[in-house]
Amino acid sequence: MSVLIAPSILSADFAALGDAIAAVQDGGADLIHVDVMDGHFVPNITIGPPVVKSIRRVAKVPLDVHLMIQDPDRYLEAFAEAGASMISVHVEVLPHLHRTVHAIKALGAKAGVVLNPSTPVVALQEIAPDVDFVLVMSVNPGFGGQTFIPRSESKVREVRALLDGAGNRGPVEIDGGIDRDNVARVVAAGAHIIVAGHAIFGSSDPERATRELKAAALGARTLPAAR
Ligand code: DX5
Ligand code: ZN
Repeated sequence: MSVLIAPSILSADFAALGDAIAAVQDGGADLIHVDVMDGHFVPNITIGPPVVKSIRRVAKVPLDVHLMIQDPDRYLEAFAEAGASMISVHVEVLPHLHRTVHAIKALGAKAGVVLNPSTPVVALQEIAPDVDFVLVMSVNPGFGGQTFIPRSESKVREVRALLDGAGNRGPVEIDGGIDRDNVARVVAAGAHIIVAGHAIFGSSDPERATRELKAAALGARTLPAAR
């Protein structure tokens, strides 16, 4: 399985999203990660379906839409229609996760489930065969530019093992505090989709930062510990 780089536009200049997306695509971005926040599930408010629709018009790569909202079921259709190729939802807000995962698939998008840092891996036990991917939060969601929580590395390993045990080869995605210094470790642990916001858009050259992060991530594949 290859490693995909998904720059998070949360740390980009929202007045120039088209330029931001073009730059990271030139740097080899495989996906664009879109952080949707509602001010309820997380203490921040970002963007909704109309912005996703506009981004879809200019992006050449698939949009990976991360819903950090209290009532995702209500908005799945709108995000799918706006052009989301991947939609991930937090297990913490969904009592009927199985229904939600299958609703996302029925809309033609890849269905992902997300674990907050304090949510145990066992929360995935029953849904593991059904998901297209799992997102491990390596910071508490809500803001870009936070520090990577070290325990997330072994958590990625545990999620990978749980998916493998369920016969699911879908990727593990990691999101929060990823940079050139720690990316090799999380890839070696089993992460195949790498989200990075601050490390890319906080740099003076997002195209180069994307290229360098990807090189560091791909370099990890040659480590003995790599899967
Ligand atoms: C955090 C978001 C992340 C965030 C990552 O709530 O889900 O996608 O943008 O940003 P960095 O890489 O800056 O931690
Ligand atoms: Zn995110």
